[in-house]
Amino acid sequence: MAEQSGWMSTSGPGPTAANPVSDQGKPQVARMYDYYLGGKDHFEADREAASETMRLWPNVASGARANRHFLHVAVEHLAREQGIDQFIDIGTGIPTEPNTHQIAQYYQPQARVLYTDNDPIVMTYAQALLTSSPQGRVDYIEADLRKPQDILNHPCLAGPEPVLDLSRPVALFVVAIFHFITDEDGPSELLRTLMEPLAPGSHLVLSHASGDYDEGVEEAAEFYRSRNLPARTRSREEVEELVTGAGIELVEPGVQPVHRWWPGRPARLAPAAVSTDAQCPGYGVMARKR
Ligand SMILES: C[S@@+](CC[C@H](N)C(=O)[O-])C[C@H]1O[C@@H](n2cnc3c(N)ncnc32)[C@H](O)[C@@H]1O
Repeated sequence: MAEQSGWMSTSGPGPTAANPVSDQGKPQVARMYDYYLGGKDHFEADREAASETMRLWPNVASGARANRHFLHVAVEHLAREQGIDQFIDIGTGIPTEPNTHQIAQYYQPQARVLYTDNDPIVMTYAQALLTSSPQGRVDYIEADLRKPQDILNHPCLAGPEPVLDLSRPVALFVVAIFHFITDEDGPSELLRTLMEPLAPGSHLVLSHASGDYDEGVEEAAEFYRSRNLPARTRSREEVEELVTGAGIELVEPGVQPVHRWWPGRPARLAPAAVSTDAQCPGYGVMARKR
């Protein structure tokens, strides 16, 4: 487990000559997403696949920004208004400012954030770029959402000096990741397993691609599958079933287009909306464990 005085305080570029990226020849969803967001951490294979996705789904870049905006609003709400200071962010992605811990620690400087992704490239960037506040803590583990016990049993959560105290509320973020989980993987069961050890008052924040508004989303999913990247869009009803099937209660305004989700109030267009209904990439939802 990395300490704050170790790689947490490092800043600088991601992969280097001494720590190269091994699979530059195959597109990876984390680097394609970075391309949509205008980042610089991608290779030719990612750019080629991302460009084809943008042809099939011209709104993918605005959709990615709308999704990031949802994530930002949700972290701010939980840290500022609910006093949550412990976060698990699964499917972290290549660091993109502001990252979860930066917003959380702005409101709760002592906040602790555990990032998880199954892509070793994300780990490399995270080690270089995710730096905690002095009072808080940021850790990163490489693990797969489809093996939740690997996350729950990791020393960061189950060791003698865990990063997070699971007897207090935690916010579990699974933002823009469950559309990479197929039905065969048992998505509701995965969520239930991850929420089970969390204390009452813990929250779930989830966003999910859907073709309900923009047919380009499903065309893009088909293209991902053709490149052996798992992709399963879900309807509004399926997203709601996914969350409620995990035994947790939706927080108002329930399952909403990401750009209309706003905590505790009727759905409305977010002030910084970067997407219209016709361009909607999918749904955002927050739920609370009783
Ligand atoms: C579209 S990005 C989302 C990044 C960030 N959560 C956001 O919403 O801005 C999806 C991330 O999920 C990761 N991912 C995909 N499948 C995963 C799995 N089975 N386990 C862990 N991470 C996964 C990818 O590597 C990628 O970094």
